[in-house]
Amino acid sequence: MLQTIVLFILKLNGNNQLYLLMKLKDIIIVLLALIVFSIPVYAQKNRSLGICNINELIARMSLHEKALLIVGAEETKPLKKGNAIGAAGYTYAFPTLGIPSVVMADGPMGVRISPFRKQDLQSYYCTAFPSCSLLSATWNRELALQEGLAMGQEAKAYGVDVILTPGINIMRNPLCGRNFEYFSEDPVLSGYMGTSVIKGIQSTGIAACLKHFIANNQQINKLNNDARIPLQALREIYLKGFEICIRDANPWSVMSSYNKIGGLYTQANPELLRTILRKEWGYKGLVMTDWYKKRNTTEQVLGGSQLMMPGELSQVEEIENAVKTGLLPEERLNECVRDMLSFIYKVTKYPQNREEKFLNLKDNACLSRKIATEGMVLLKNNEATLPLEEKKLKVSLFGVSAYRSIVGGGGSSNVNKSYIVNIADGIKNVGMNVDSNLENVYEKYCQFQEALMIPGNAKSWEKLSYFRPVMPEMDITRNKKIIIDQATKNDIAIIVLGSSSTEESDRSLDETFGHSMAEKEMIEQVCKEFHAKNKKVIVVLNICGVIETDSWNKLPDAILLSWFPGQECGNAVADILTGKVCPSGKLPMTFPVKYEDIPSSKNYPLIGMTKEGKDFDYTNYEENIWVGYRYFTTAKKKVSYPFGYGLSYTEFVYDCPKLNKKKGKWIAQVQVTNTGDRAGQEVVQLYVATPSIGIEKPVYELKGFAKTKTLQSGEKQDVVITLTDYDLASFDINSSNWVLGKGKCDFMFGSSSEEIKACISRKITLAHKWKVNNVLRPIKPVSIMHLKNINN
Ligand code: BGC
Repeated sequence: MLQTIVLFILKLNGNNQLYLLMKLKDIIIVLLALIVFSIPVYAQKNRSLGICNINELIARMSLHEKALLIVGAEETKPLKKGNAIGAAGYTYAFPTLGIPSVVMADGPMGVRISPFRKQDLQSYYCTAFPSCSLLSATWNRELALQEGLAMGQEAKAYGVDVILTPGINIMRNPLCGRNFEYFSEDPVLSGYMGTSVIKGIQSTGIAACLKHFIANNQQINKLNNDARIPLQALREIYLKGFEICIRDANPWSVMSSYNKIGGLYTQANPELLRTILRKEWGYKGLVMTDWYKKRNTTEQVLGGSQLMMPGELSQVEEIENAVKTGLLPEERLNECVRDMLSFIYKVTKYPQNREEKFLNLKDNACLSRKIATEGMVLLKNNEATLPLEEKKLKVSLFGVSAYRSIVGGGGSSNVNKSYIVNIADGIKNVGMNVDSNLENVYEKYCQFQEALMIPGNAKSWEKLSYFRPVMPEMDITRNKKIIIDQATKNDIAIIVLGSSSTEESDRSLDETFGHSMAEKEMIEQVCKEFHAKNKKVIVVLNICGVIETDSWNKLPDAILLSWFPGQECGNAVADILTGKVCPSGKLPMTFPVKYEDIPSSKNYPLIGMTKEGKDFDYTNYEENIWVGYRYFTTAKKKVSYPFGYGLSYTEFVYDCPKLNKKKGKWIAQVQVTNTGDRAGQEVVQLYVATPSIGIEKPVYELKGFAKTKTLQSGEKQDVVITLTDYDLASFDINSSNWVLGKGKCDFMFGSSSEEIKACISRKITLAHKWKVNNVLRPIKPVSIMHLKNINN
């Protein structure tokens, strides 16, 4: 062959065309050989799988290599210079085959990697964005897209190929410890916000990973719990958001959940992964397992998992043996390998941008602040307490979380950020005077708690993430004089109530959904003393999600829900308090009056009390479709704050609702006018009451939403929301059909689920049906709650 190359070059130089023609066959062989042998070289040099024939590549792989490729590893050490350390996992590289390694990092509130690499003076901090619940409360798809894009750029610059986000599980119950990582109690809001995050990330050439498929709705025994979900709820509530993301955003990867459904682990469940995901929804991407849960690997592969994360070497052996004994047909293994290689090709396709010059942490911090500000929800604002126009106010700032603000939840979503702006700092940054005596009292308490809770050798960056304890509230009322003194000398009180949430456990009913004595007494005493002096009290909720508010929300003058707002926390809170930004966040979940009002509370585990059987080994989703506002609006049950609710500093009027059908699509339109005296944005929510089809249904359901631009006082905007017939369908379990019946259909434009501001109706003259597979039945019958049986 070498001789042929030499001859070819010689003759080519001599321009001997006859010779060239005669040797054409040899030349083709040489060129082919050059291409085949150069792929690995090209691939390694550029960290890209390059363009190759995947089937040929598979034919060159040994059984061992194939098995190793689909068994990922945990990131424990740098793979090679330039790769992110501290990422969640990676896949093995095969240099001789030209297959590079793929690095995966969490999500969902920023890219989670270690900020330092050995012998490297540079730092690799990432931006800590707000919790997904806050992002969802913006109801702004464009912002979600921008966040995805920013995360994608950071991942790219730091050598990460896959971001393990978004998680769009439904907030079935407020005690779920991971709700802060999720978007909503509603699948349409979750699905569309998740879609935007995925599109943003993938526009940078980085893969998103849609998780946790499906029904990871409780943390207690999440590893083995069987979620027994009636089929109507399964289709309409728990699968719907995933279906939207797969259809509209095509995530390059999906992560199954830890739990079981239909008695089988989701990662080994062919009805879920093959029948629904692949056949019904046409998904062609990669399905990986959630971390560290090795189960029967052959069943996982047969069930539809293609990447075991992070796998164990024993699994490689398991796969090899299964193929050798015929338990696992090699073609099934090849299917996984094929999907893995296409995935690796996609995520390593644009290696040239892997440089930090594409990273702009300052811009991303501004984006984090913008999102945080836009997602905060003003729950109460009596007598226009807010905004605080007077900049030089003397403020009594109560609550530990004012000085050690909670910017994110615990667990895999914890981002290594370079700084945190506490609420106290944010308030000082806008020129207000935070009382220093009170600050000193809290500072001493915080330092004392930190000495107890943080290991002595913790590094300063670790203290911003892994070792940032959420402290119990200090009992400030033990010294009554402090509060009286504060009320005498300062203009206003701001109380910050903080409560934690983490992936590792569910929240407790008493302490994190409810309140400690120290918290209750702080609110009561501060309100009493400040009101006695005619001074206002504002409560800022620095919390993950739904808490009890009914017992105290009448006391303060204003309540701002700031969630877990990311690294720019204090600045974002100050933006809203001072009116620099007009609040426009709306609740993505309902705040009930009490926990027991929530239908799922009858079938949800409580920490320390549920150790086996019901709600532990299995959970019956008896409430069926009655999740969140679907229940409260239909049952007309009083809530503290409804789904979709949020106040503004200005006012909006909705006019001229219109409805057209063009090319099979419903186009719903309404005119929104800012009738107040400040600029602001409004979230328009489209609820639809569809014709009866003889099954139990909510009175109306969210089908679409849109956010206006910032409207100046007096300015108008036509808001347009587009829907298909399929979007309006309900699931009939008897026929296994999605059905849209004939009859009157009401399109309602609301500023919350309880405040419908304009409505337009149409008659649907033709019924529609979409057949799907009758799969994923609970292994034991679940008795279903019917709304008429509820005693209101
Ligand atoms: C979590 C996933 C996460 C993974 C990697 C698991 O424990 O459930 O959401 O992506 O760890 O950190």
